[in-house]
Amino acid sequence: MKVLLLGSGGREHAIAWKISQSQKLTKLYIAPGNAGTALCGENVNLEADDFDSLAAFIRSNSIDMLVVGPEDPLVKGVIEYFQSKPEFSSLLLIGPGKAGADLEGSKEYAKEFMNRHNIPTAGYLSVTSENLSEGYQFLDSVQSPYVLKADGLAAGKGVLILDSLEEAKAELKAMLDGKFGAASKKVVIEEFLSGIEMSAFVITDGITYKILPEAKDYKRIGEGDTGLNTGGMGCVSPVPFADKEFLAKVEQEVIKPTVDGLLKDNIPYTGFIFFGLMNLNGQPKVIEYNVRMGDPETEVIMPRLKTDLLEVFEAAAKKELDKVSVEIDEQACVTVMLVSGGYPGGYPKGIEIKGLDKTEGSIIFHAGTKPDGDKVLTNGGRVISVSSLGNTFNEALKVSYQNAEIIDFEGKYFRSDIGFDLQKYL
Ligand code: AMP
Ligand code: GLY
Repeated sequence: MKVLLLGSGGREHAIAWKISQSQKLTKLYIAPGNAGTALCGENVNLEADDFDSLAAFIRSNSIDMLVVGPEDPLVKGVIEYFQSKPEFSSLLLIGPGKAGADLEGSKEYAKEFMNRHNIPTAGYLSVTSENLSEGYQFLDSVQSPYVLKADGLAAGKGVLILDSLEEAKAELKAMLDGKFGAASKKVVIEEFLSGIEMSAFVITDGITYKILPEAKDYKRIGEGDTGLNTGGMGCVSPVPFADKEFLAKVEQEVIKPTVDGLLKDNIPYTGFIFFGLMNLNGQPKVIEYNVRMGDPETEVIMPRLKTDLLEVFEAAAKKELDKVSVEIDEQACVTVMLVSGGYPGGYPKGIEIKGLDKTEGSIIFHAGTKPDGDKVLTNGGRVISVSSLGNTFNEALKVSYQNAEIIDFEGKYFRSDIGFDLQKYL
């Protein structure tokens, strides 16, 4: 099977790494990829949202399967683009169409979906400039802190959590006035959920689903979960506080009603669903849906997946997911993200990364990197994800931290407290 994978981050390197081990693979292309994906297949210089160029490439290289890594092309309709062209009728597509992708692309749409299907989530009100006064009343009626979410995609920056009522009202107005562009012309105000966060993942063919390992990421730049939000500074799987009972509730109250809801609403869906969850004293509530894998969650999930990923993808694309079984490694996996100095603010690019060939015992996933002859250069904020499997959580952590020291580039920063908050649950 010839596969084209779209994307260029650590998530895509982890997916490419897993696909490259498949018995079914004849050739893997990654567009545009990074220096790490170039070790798993061939990078092609195409942008994930340039659909016409992707189509020309798929045609001339007889690609059998298109796997979409990030949400952007999904929300822009890449799946419909190929489905609408008869010449691509046998192309296997991994990623939801627009109606599915809007579960991530619009917070209001996701909330309405959850309410329609009785999926536990925070109370909310959707506000535009038309009903701003209702928005103020809603803020008056809930307790601090106040949660304001831009309805549309805002590059992970569209959620504000504010302590002061005055500030929340001012920010609500600023958002509606275009603080996050068109994405915040509509704002979802949510009740604040106080609990511990974690994420669950499935792959689905829109009828049935297979549960992938759960994970917990570390979003803030600073130790002790302080400072600005990032794409993710580290991740662990399994999640020590997510016991069998809690995970069973997640499946019964969240996962199953979501997949059943897609079917009831006539939303065809092939691909991953990422459930952002809050655990409120053992009760799961959905914070958000993502219609793709997480990054760095994928970097701890792929190493724990024993089953051939292309076999699972093929079954999902053919709506035969019930025919495969997905086997998960019981070992723990953790990842520590090495980032550029300055991230998530401004940072330099093009700095040489050294020591990549000196690590031992970890799987090194590239995020923002690019090849330059024999060298590998930094090319983004998040640069390298150091993943390790271990018989215990702490064994895996120790190996990742040893290798995080060995890989080096000017300005390198990583959080040295990944997993520390979870020690009490071990
Ligand atoms: P989202 O983009 O919806 O995942 O929101 C970003 C982050 O804001 C989440 O990962 C949570 O940490 C936090 N968050 C979002 N919604 C809520 C909520 N209703 N209550 C508490 N925290 C929230
Ligand atoms: N790590 C969070 C995300 O991928 O959205």
